[in-house]
Amino acid sequence: MEALNQFRELALNGEYEKSLQSFDEFTKEVKCMEKDKEKNTMIEGYSWKQMQNELCKEAHVVKQIIHELNAFKQSIDFGDIGPNVQEQEEKEVKKAKPILHGANNNTVKTIKKQVSKTSRSKLSLTGKTPVQSTITNNNNSNSEAKIKPIGFSENESTKGEKEKKYECPKGIDQEIVSMIEDSVIDRSNGISWLDIASLNEVKSLLQETIILPSVMPEIFKGIRKPLKSILLFGPPGTGKTMLAKAVANNKDSIFFNVAPSLVVSKWRGDSSKLIKVLFEMARFYSPSVIFFDEIDSIGSERSANGEHEATRQMKSELLIQMDGVNNCKDCRVIILGATNHPWLIDDALRRRFEKRIYVPLPDKPARIQLFQMYLKDMELYKDVEFPMLADLTEGYNGADINAICRDAAMISIRTQIQRFYSGSNFNLNSQTLQNIQIQNVPISVQDFQSAVSRIKSSVSFQDLEKHTKWFQTFGSL
Ligand SMILES: Nc1ncnc2c1ncn2[C@@H]1O[C@H](COP(=O)(O)OP(=O)(O)OP(=O)(O)O)[C@@H](O)[C@H]1O
Ligand SMILES: [Mg+2]
Repeated sequence: MEALNQFRELALNGEYEKSLQSFDEFTKEVKCMEKDKEKNTMIEGYSWKQMQNELCKEAHVVKQIIHELNAFKQSIDFGDIGPNVQEQEEKEVKKAKPILHGANNNTVKTIKKQVSKTSRSKLSLTGKTPVQSTITNNNNSNSEAKIKPIGFSENESTKGEKEKKYECPKGIDQEIVSMIEDSVIDRSNGISWLDIASLNEVKSLLQETIILPSVMPEIFKGIRKPLKSILLFGPPGTGKTMLAKAVANNKDSIFFNVAPSLVVSKWRGDSSKLIKVLFEMARFYSPSVIFFDEIDSIGSERSANGEHEATRQMKSELLIQMDGVNNCKDCRVIILGATNHPWLIDDALRRRFEKRIYVPLPDKPARIQLFQMYLKDMELYKDVEFPMLADLTEGYNGADINAICRDAAMISIRTQIQRFYSGSNFNLNSQTLQNIQIQNVPISVQDFQSAVSRIKSSVSFQDLEKHTKWFQTFGSL
């Protein structure tokens, strides 16, 4: 029964092909034994036939191992001998392991050796193989080059390494898809959370709704599931668009910045299609954020008469798509809207925003922060104090304060130019400017007072009252 011993020994040593040859020899021997009634005795309760049946199962396992190893050889491309080859070998061994019911550790080690040998020899023999195109090469380091088997789905673990591309579905105008790719997807704009003064509550709500769940999705599920739709409302110039831009700078999600002009003018006839494709693309590229700035201009109250049919269809499509996002458990698309006329928004649309956040005029501490921010690189006279500037600008929004700082900073320069031209015609050009010695004088309290007297607050008292009322009725936070 040497063949039987060889079969098992060779299998344990990883010489599977040879082991199967021994098994065939053993089978032939058994057939002869069966004919010889004397020799067909029971060994430890087994007949030769029973033993052969048991060994058939072992031979089957060996065949499976050979099959798996062949599959590995065909599907793995070894474009680089680096740490990943080692990693891949580990995977191969893990994959082969379940077949080895009852196999001992030595067998596993042997298989590992066997696989390494075949992998490397394949590399040296084949060099570049057709599947090499599936390697994601980061150029910067060997350790980051990933080896992907054939049929590897882009959506799985390569997300972020290689850009996904939305394919235009049949029946949809490629122009719409290209336009969204080119002018709606906002990849970077340079606004960070640090550029936004105050508004800490709004900032942290946006961060915990949009940024944290996209970075740690495993924590934000179930009862912690993030909000799907947020409306920012408040007087003009208070930082709503800036907040959205800071969200857009989150590299973990794709930001779709939908300007109202895009929906209502150029694509008017096709705007419902545009909305549909937009949401489809947002789902495709998720996690993503769709930002509708000045949403009142596309989501104002629907009226039975006088409204263009295309506009009504677009509004209905928007409502349908928002429902889809709000009710979808798994899709990670967030809708962000901003408006300074929340009372104009259609009731149905308003209801679809899970949270409606008031972005108010800056209070005194916020105004102090704004002045500090805008004047951080400017020279000021010693008597210029930020709390005093904040007192001067009660009722002003962030945009007004920005304008005041710019104006105050220009006043001293303007004065110098005017002094030079006094009594003669203004004729400012690069040549005449060479004759003026413009000095970088610090900004004085008077400059600020003068700027404040010229620039009026752009928010009316009536508007503020309307916002406060709307906030009390429909707002959150
Ligand atoms: N909190 C803030 N921090 C820093 N700058 C601000 C802030 N709020 C407003 N600003 C200034 O005001 C300008 C306009 O801000 P933004 O466009 O975000 O306002 P908005 O609320 O979207 O206004 P609108 O409702 O008119 O669209 C900004 O470019 C910035 O200079
Ligand atoms: Mg805005």
